[in-house]
Amino acid sequence: MPDSTSRVIGFPISRIDGPLKVTGRAPYAAEHFPADMLHAFVHVATIASGRIERIDLADAANYPGVVKIYTHENRPRAAWWDSAWKDDVALPGHPFRPLQNDRILFDGQPVALVVAESFEAARDAAALIRVSYVEEEPATNILVEERNSYEPKEKRSGIAPPPPPRGDAQGAFEASPFKISAEYVLEGEHHNPMELFASTVIWEEDGSLTIHDKTQGSQNSQGYVCGVFELPKEKVRVFNRYVGGAFGSGLRPKHQLFLSVMAALDLQRSVKLELSRREMFYLTWRPATVQRVSMAADQNGHLSAILHHAVEATSRYEDYQEVVVNWSGLAYKCENVKLTYELASMNVSTPGDMRAPGAATGVFALECAIDELSYKVGIDPLEMRIRNFVHMDQNEDKQFTSKALHGCYRQGSEAFGWDDRNHAPRSMRDGQDLVGYGVSTGIWEAQVTNAAARVRLNADMSLLVSAAASDIGTGTYTILAQIGAEGFGITTDQVIVDIGDSALPTTSVEGGSWTAASSGAAVQSASIAVRATLLKHAQTMENSPLAKASVEQTAIREGRLVLDVNDQVGVSVEDIFAHVGLSFIEEEGKAAPDQATQKTFSSYTHSANFVEVHVDEELGVIRVTRVVVAVAAGRILNPKTARSQILGGVVMGLGMALYEEGMFDHRTGRIMNHNLAEYHVPSHADVQDIEVIFVEEHDDKTSPLGVKGLGEIGIVGMAAAVANAIYHATGNRVRHLPMTIDKVF
Ligand code: MOS
Repeated sequence: MPDSTSRVIGFPISRIDGPLKVTGRAPYAAEHFPADMLHAFVHVATIASGRIERIDLADAANYPGVVKIYTHENRPRAAWWDSAWKDDVALPGHPFRPLQNDRILFDGQPVALVVAESFEAARDAAALIRVSYVEEEPATNILVEERNSYEPKEKRSGIAPPPPPRGDAQGAFEASPFKISAEYVLEGEHHNPMELFASTVIWEEDGSLTIHDKTQGSQNSQGYVCGVFELPKEKVRVFNRYVGGAFGSGLRPKHQLFLSVMAALDLQRSVKLELSRREMFYLTWRPATVQRVSMAADQNGHLSAILHHAVEATSRYEDYQEVVVNWSGLAYKCENVKLTYELASMNVSTPGDMRAPGAATGVFALECAIDELSYKVGIDPLEMRIRNFVHMDQNEDKQFTSKALHGCYRQGSEAFGWDDRNHAPRSMRDGQDLVGYGVSTGIWEAQVTNAAARVRLNADMSLLVSAAASDIGTGTYTILAQIGAEGFGITTDQVIVDIGDSALPTTSVEGGSWTAASSGAAVQSASIAVRATLLKHAQTMENSPLAKASVEQTAIREGRLVLDVNDQVGVSVEDIFAHVGLSFIEEEGKAAPDQATQKTFSSYTHSANFVEVHVDEELGVIRVTRVVVAVAAGRILNPKTARSQILGGVVMGLGMALYEEGMFDHRTGRIMNHNLAEYHVPSHADVQDIEVIFVEEHDDKTSPLGVKGLGEIGIVGMAAAVANAIYHATGNRVRHLPMTIDKVF
C-alpha cells in the first residue's frame, strides 16, 4: 500500500543528478583517466563501396608516440572472426566487425586503428595512413533503391512482421467516394547526442577490464565484450553512470568499444577511444524511408480503406527493421487495411533505433494522409480524427488497457485555441506571414521489460537503491529515488541511487520508453520485500502490535512501521533494527512483462499535437511559433522530468520536420554534411512556445506503478502536425522531410 501522506511520487522534483551534471562533476565515458593510458584514433574509409587494395602505414608507424596500428591484415584474435557469435540485440544478418576484411560497405567504415601515447599523436598519425581502394558503384539513394526492395525474411527479435490484411482494402478504396494516395519521403536522420561515442578501457594486472562506455545498457556492452573476446563475466565490468544523451543510438554496442577492448587486450594497457563528431554520422541513423499511403472515406468522413506500404533503407550486412506501418492498422477505426513493409539494401551503415523508431516515420505518413483526406471530405482535420476514434486494437483484436486520447484532443485543442482556426487553407495571416494550424495524433507502445533492483534500508532510515539501469538523461536517477522514498515515507534526499554499473541487479537496456515502468516496478517490489522483512522482525518483538498484520496492511510513516488502517498502531523502525541487531535490511525485486495481460490487452500511450506555423510568403521561411502537446501516458511520476521528456521529443520532432537531413553525394555514396554546422539540429532560435499537458489517465494493467512511459511519445506525429500546419498556411502539401524552404513554394 503506497504511503499517501508522502509528497514524493507525482511531485516535480528536480533531477537529483542535476547539480553534478551542470558543475562538470559527472564524468562521462571519455572523462576517465587511468594511469598509463593509451589513446586510439580511427582511420575511416573514403569510399562507400569496394575493397581495400593496399594500406601504406610507413609514415604513420614512424610518427612519434605511435605504439601500434591495426588493420584487417594484423588484427589480433577475437572469438567472432571465425564464429557465428551475435550479441543479444543483433539483427538478422552479420553484425559489423570492424577490420574483419578488405570489403568496404559504407562511407566512413573503420579501416585502421592507431594507438599512441597521446590523443594528438594517434590523430595525426591516422591522417598519414594511405589507403588505395578498388571502387564499386555505391547505392545510397532510397528513392532509387526502393525499386530493388525486398521483404525482410527473418523476424527481428521483438518486431513481428506487419499484421495480415483485413477486409478488402483495395476494393474498398476503389469503391469509396473520397480518397487520397500519396508518397511520403523521409531523408535519413543522424544521431547527434551531446556525448560522443567513447570507451575508456582500464586494463588491470590480472587481465580484467573496467570499461566506461557510452551505452544505454552497461550489461549489454558487458555481454558484447565477453562474447566477442570470449571473456568470463567476472573479468569485465562496464559502467555507464552518466550518459550525455543517446535516444536509441546507444542501444547496440558501437565499434569504438570493440576496437578499444581489442587494443587493450593486445597491448595489455588501458586504452581510450572517443569517436569524432564526424564519425557519429557513420554509425547509426534513422533510416531514409519511402512510404505510400492510400486512404479512403465515406461522405461522413469514416475511413473505409487504408493501404500503407513502406520501404526503409538498411545496410549491406544486416536487416534493420522497425515498426513503420502497423500504426495505420490501430490508430483509427477501419475495416479494410493492408500494411506492407520492405527493405532496401544500400551502402550505408546499419540504421538503428532513433527516438520512437518506426512510429516517428510511419505516423508521419499516416497523419499527413488523414489530414489530406479530411480536406477532400470537407471536414475539420481534428473532427476527422475524432470521428474515426477506435476503442479496440484492430490489428490484434484486443482491448486497450486505457486510452484517454479523447481527453488529449479536448484539452489540447482548448489550450491551443483550435476553434479560432478558419478551415480554408491560406486564409489566416499575420502581417507578412501566412499562418497555419495543424494537428496530429501520436501513438507509442507502453511496455514493461525485465528489470531487477536492490533496495537497502539502513537503521537511520536512509535508503540505497541499486540496479544496472541507465539514465540517458531521462531522469531515471530521480524517479527511482522517488519510488524508493515513497515506499518508506522518506524524502528523496535520504535516498542514494546507484545505477549504470553492470555488476548491479540485471536490467534491460534503457529504451522503448520502458525504464520508468520496469525499473520503477522493480524498486517498488524490492521496497515491499524490505518492508515484509521488517514486519517479520517486528513480529518477533514482545507484544508486537503488528503480530497479526500482513505486509499489505502496513506502511512506513515518520520512521514507524504502522498498521495502515490506524497509523497510531506501530513500531519504530529504529526499535526493530535494535531488536534484531541489524544495521540494514536489503532485498531484491523484479519486474517483467505480464504475459496474461498482454494476451488480452494492448497498451499504448497517446497524444494530440497542435502546431501553429508562420510562413513568410516571400522567403518561404517557416517558423513553428506555438506547440501544444496533450499526452495520455498513465501515471506521471514526476511532472518536471516528464515534461522535459516531452519537450525533448517535440524539439527532435521539429528537427525531423524542418531541418535534419543526412546528405549523400549519391555519385560517391559519401555523406557530405557530417558536422553540426551543416547538419542542422534545432537551436534555441528555432524553438518557441511549447506547452505540455498531461491528461489524466488511470491504467492498472500496463505496469504495477500505473506508468506507461514518456521517452518517445513527444516526437510521434510532430512532423505531421508541422506539415499539416504548413498546408493550412500555404495550401501546399509538402510530403518530403525535412520541409526545407525550397520545398514549400
Ligand atoms: Mo529508444 S529509440 O528505444 O532509446
